Amino acid sequence: MKRPFVFINAAMSADGKISTYERRQIRISSDADIRRVDELRAGADAIMVGIGTVLADNPGLTVKFGNGNPIRIVVDSMARTPVDAEVITRKGGSTIIAVSKSAPNKRVNALRERVDIIVAGDERISLPELLNELKSKGINRLMVEGGATLNWGLISKGLVDEIYVYIGNMIFGGKEAPTLVDGEGFCELKDTVKLELKDFCRLGDGFVVRWEVKR
Ligand SMILES: NC(=O)c1ccc[n+]([C@@H]2O[C@H](COP(=O)([O-])OP(=O)(O)OC[C@H]3O[C@@H](n4cnc5c(N)ncnc54)[C@H](OP(=O)(O)O)[C@@H]3O)[C@@H](O)[C@H]2O)c1
Repeated sequence: MKRPFVFINAAMSADGKISTYERRQIRISSDADIRRVDELRAGADAIMVGIGTVLADNPGLTVKFGNGNPIRIVVDSMARTPVDAEVITRKGGSTIIAVSKSAPNKRVNALRERVDIIVAGDERISLPELLNELKSKGINRLMVEGGATLNWGLISKGLVDEIYVYIGNMIFGGKEAPTLVDGEGFCELKDTVKLELKDFCRLGDGFVVRWEVKR
């Protein structure tokens, strides 16, 4: 199946957490990193997040400093995205909510009045099917901005090409705090996803690393 080039961007604490155990949005990035993320966004055809991130952080997913706004995509099997979520109401690129065939019609119809809907998967979103559909819509470069569960969904299915991580100078702790990649996890070393280090550089009090996913 065809799919766009997919890269994840995330900010995490030095101990690998992307939020606190309360799953509240918390600033990890420096000002310089926010600019870097903005440039990455501006260079993407679309930005994707999971419904968990929409409900926790309510991000607008727009480009702040540059020109042009990528399409915003929410992976949301049961159409739980609130109709007044920033990803819908904030002026920016158009919005697609991806839902499964099991999403309640009432909620899907309320969303359809405001955004485009893609149906992919029976009970949960089929990510390969969704990416195939996005590619056919002309999306060639897809940026994924979390969270931990969506990152696992994509990485575990071999659907990610690159990963950028900003690592901040703080420790959150907490075994319930989301990490860069959650989900079920791999058991055997042979199944783990191998990365090739492509770049790293200091940015403010933290650093950015770019990994390529090995095939
Ligand atoms: N620091 C950072 O860079 C950063 C960035 C983003 C988010 N975050 C943090 O991450 C946390 C949210 O992460 P999260 O793991 O709770 O939620 P998430 O990854 O944003 O969304 C996960 C949800 O996506 C839906 N989904 C549908 N199909 C899926 C599939 N095939 N694979 C995976 N997910 C699928 C599922 O809900 P349904 O079954 O209802 O569809 C799933 O629960 C928040 O604390 C947020 O602050 C941090």
